[in-house]
Amino acid sequence: MCTALAKSGTAGSRPRLLEWSLTSTMTGPTAATLRPELLMNLPGTRSPVCLPATAANIAAAAACLRQGGVVGFPTETVYGLGAAATNIEAVQRVFAIKGRPPEHPLIVHLASRDWLADWARTIPDSAVLLAEHFWPGPLTLVLPRQPHVPDAVTGGQASVALRVPAHPVALQLLEAAGALVAPSANRFGRISPTTAEHVQDELGDALDMLLDGGPCEIGVESTVISLLGDAPALLRPGGISVAQLEAVLGRPLAAAPQGVRAPGRLPAHYAPATPLEVLPSAQLAQRATALAHAGQRVSLLVFAASDAGMPTMPGVHREIMPGDAISYARILYATLRRLDAQGFAALLVEATPDNPAWLAISDRLARAAFGTLPT
Ligand code: TXA
Ligand code: MG
Repeated sequence: MCTALAKSGTAGSRPRLLEWSLTSTMTGPTAATLRPELLMNLPGTRSPVCLPATAANIAAAAACLRQGGVVGFPTETVYGLGAAATNIEAVQRVFAIKGRPPEHPLIVHLASRDWLADWARTIPDSAVLLAEHFWPGPLTLVLPRQPHVPDAVTGGQASVALRVPAHPVALQLLEAAGALVAPSANRFGRISPTTAEHVQDELGDALDMLLDGGPCEIGVESTVISLLGDAPALLRPGGISVAQLEAVLGRPLAAAPQGVRAPGRLPAHYAPATPLEVLPSAQLAQRATALAHAGQRVSLLVFAASDAGMPTMPGVHREIMPGDAISYARILYATLRRLDAQGFAALLVEATPDNPAWLAISDRLARAAFGTLPT
């Protein structure tokens, strides 16, 4: 859990939590935990940015969002950086906070698939089918946009990405605040956050509020599917597997079309600061020993079976990773963040099984490794 009081400094010109708190109904234990002196956002005092996701705090966050605030909140995949999808100024603040280039489009999050027609101009049968099966859940559908969808959201494209998340806090927030853009709540190109503490550490000072709903269940981002072409196409592997999608669609997914701007598809996305290498099991011990002999502190991320077969290697940290894809995904980003903070010269990751169930993980690891190999 993140600490409830981590932000310091002045309120600036933006509306702040004190106002949201006062306009929301605060009753019971939640109100009792927010001591009035801690809500005072005076110069030099600390203001409560990160709060437990109670009903009262969700209502306060929704009020904040309706007035143009930017709020971090949990989804079942990763934490999102939320802003009202119809408020161009708030959307632009999301880009500024992330350091994300403006032409990269955002996902619009909806409370229900009943909202789809408000955002998508046409809804093919495949969209209805996928939404019925996988929403609420970790699937994003790219569809032709309604004319009112701001260019600031779509990066000027004629399409819009839409998803109904499965996390109860996200759904309550969307119900109360309306549609929200929500990129992962990390700086552009860095590891997505899977706890409120990650968000607090990376962006805390820039947010109006952060709802702590505990660690994310899935741990990697949603699967992104384009429904713009003749056949549904995979733009980003994620929380719903290709096999699950193909089973429901009754046909194979097409390859990603050319010319789609999707930052999750940039080779160097999802990178820790520490150089990361993905290596076949047979090469791990040798590479680790070579680096350790050269005086470098390294960490392995290995499966238990490989760890058991390895010799003792002084100076080499061994992080045992889960053998099933679902558990591995859940802890991957938190593990990378923790190891990234420990000053290793390199992270050596055992290649994951060559099996479709591991696609989202091998995709993120390949991106994390891109261009960061130690010399
Ligand atoms: O799990 C998730 O999807 C998380 C949580 C917070 O919901 N959000 C997330 O957002 O990962 P972001 O902005 O980090 O990634 C959005 C992905 C990117 O790969 C983006 O390029 C793609 O969706 N995308 C958005 N709009 C698109 C569009 N119109 N056409 C193609 N791809 C689009
Ligand atoms: Mg992201």
